[in-house]
Amino acid sequence: MPQKAWWKEAAVYQIYPASVCDLNGDGIGDIPGILSKLDYLESLGVDVVWLCPVYESPQVDMGYDISDYRAIHAPYGTVQDVDQLIAALHKRGMKLVMDLVVNHTSDQHAWFKESRSSLDNPKRDWYIWRKPRWDAEGNRQPPNNWASVFGGSAWSFDEETGEYYLHLFCKEQPDLNWENPDVAQAVHDVMTFWLDKGVDGFRMDVINFISKTPGLPDAPVTIPDQQFQPAELHYADGPRLHEFLRGLRGILDKYNAFAVGEMPGVKEEAEVLKSVAEDRKELNMIFQFDIICLDNGRNNKFFPKEWSLPKLKAIVHKWQTCMFDNSGWNALFLENHDQSRSVSRFTPHRPENRNAAAKMLATFMGMQAGTLFVYQGQELGMANLPKDWGIDEYKDVETQNLYRLALEQHRGDPDGAEKVMDQVRLKARDHGRSPMQWNTQKHGGFTTGTPWMRVNEDYLHCNAEQQQRDPSSVFAYWQRLLRLRKQHADTFVYGSFELLAADDPAVVCYRRVHASAGAATVVLNFTDGEYAWEAPPGVVKAWEGARRILANYAEPGEIRKHSAAVVCLRPFEAVVLLEERKMC
Ligand code: GLC
Repeated sequence: MPQKAWWKEAAVYQIYPASVCDLNGDGIGDIPGILSKLDYLESLGVDVVWLCPVYESPQVDMGYDISDYRAIHAPYGTVQDVDQLIAALHKRGMKLVMDLVVNHTSDQHAWFKESRSSLDNPKRDWYIWRKPRWDAEGNRQPPNNWASVFGGSAWSFDEETGEYYLHLFCKEQPDLNWENPDVAQAVHDVMTFWLDKGVDGFRMDVINFISKTPGLPDAPVTIPDQQFQPAELHYADGPRLHEFLRGLRGILDKYNAFAVGEMPGVKEEAEVLKSVAEDRKELNMIFQFDIICLDNGRNNKFFPKEWSLPKLKAIVHKWQTCMFDNSGWNALFLENHDQSRSVSRFTPHRPENRNAAAKMLATFMGMQAGTLFVYQGQELGMANLPKDWGIDEYKDVETQNLYRLALEQHRGDPDGAEKVMDQVRLKARDHGRSPMQWNTQKHGGFTTGTPWMRVNEDYLHCNAEQQQRDPSSVFAYWQRLLRLRKQHADTFVYGSFELLAADDPAVVCYRRVHASAGAATVVLNFTDGEYAWEAPPGVVKAWEGARRILANYAEPGEIRKHSAAVVCLRPFEAVVLLEERKMC
């Protein structure tokens, strides 16, 4: 049985500051805007706010390119505003988690400006500089063949000093050199600065990229028609990662603070456990990418890949049981600022079934073991941007770069452009970044000015104000779900996980069991149609006898009994059945 902890029972709400609420009318969300929405968050029932980067930044990658870790990007507000946010959250018994982006800085950070100023600058070694390679024709080439996550080479040449610097993301995001102990010290100081202010912990951006394979060798060629190659092998979970994580943990422990690490590219249980198993004393949990990479195709995410429900179930089963059996902990999420909207991506639906689908997905995630993360707008069932929006509406640097790259790779295919655009419509990060839809006023009540990004025009029938008044809304469903999760924490947070009907192509069914508190059965129809499900006898028994504590259809569904019992599920039906142990 997992040990109890506040952060295991918590629901975390992720805020994308640019898009929450703009109080000063400049079209960009701000911290005072967030402060004005704390009643809303409290009424939803979340316990922790994770604030995406609000630090000073040229915003090449929407704040994930930080130029000063101790200052706030002016359109968002001031350090005093953050102080106020901490105080206001704490007053409500809630907590604040900040984003810590320390694999890289902005190229406008004073550290990098110094580093690039000369070969013998004391900060030269704070970043990863290498001499060029020269090919047989005498052309200058990057030091190795690594591709940037955002396309192209991971190296940029600096004319002044005649060397290349490494950037796993944009060229404006140079990677810090963690091999230099001064870098770790500087990061520890930044953490201390914010922890002293009362911040309760950090979400650590691509934290498993901070240790690279010594010598930075070439990556194997896995995409032959591409000049630069994916190189996660040489920078995800590198040899000194765990040593560096323990260093970070040392600082966190002084404040009893919390940490969730973002860790793309780590697939092995043993490797993940090294970062999150209780006795390792590294991180509390990580964001693991198996689910959200399920439909990312060859080359990059703008190539399609078929996914199946049994495959999704196998992933869930793998991580649920792995963490339970090994004293680890899961971070449960389907959406964040790097993903499109789950209701559009994982549950293609007819318009009339959108709310049922959003509630079904909420149930799918919300009844699993782990700390639950809700991304802003997910509680309303916000959907992807309209299909008729052109590529110019997509602001994200990753979208624009990978779109161009994918187009090039479809050269000669007359349908290439449309194929790529289809994937952009499905998976671009922009879908998760459009402004929050508060009400039916212009721009969904997000701003009185011109929004930095166009508001999804469906705000007229998908907005917070309407949903807060409507007991059958997606918002009201999330409220119930979060409440139930707390009321029955022994079962839903700490209970074991058992997957049923693993191979069924339409239904997800799992049980959560706690020896003394009771058991719950979760049944979910992942299709847009009716589904006659030949359910296992135990489920039929629960369906007939257990308490239906959460469901997205008002009336219980029907069971038909012929030779076997068939549960007739309606489109995207979700049901949670609770069998409480009788206390005698
Ligand atoms: C993380 C962030 C993403 C950002 C990238 C580079 O994956 O979540 O938004 O672009 O790191 O910092």
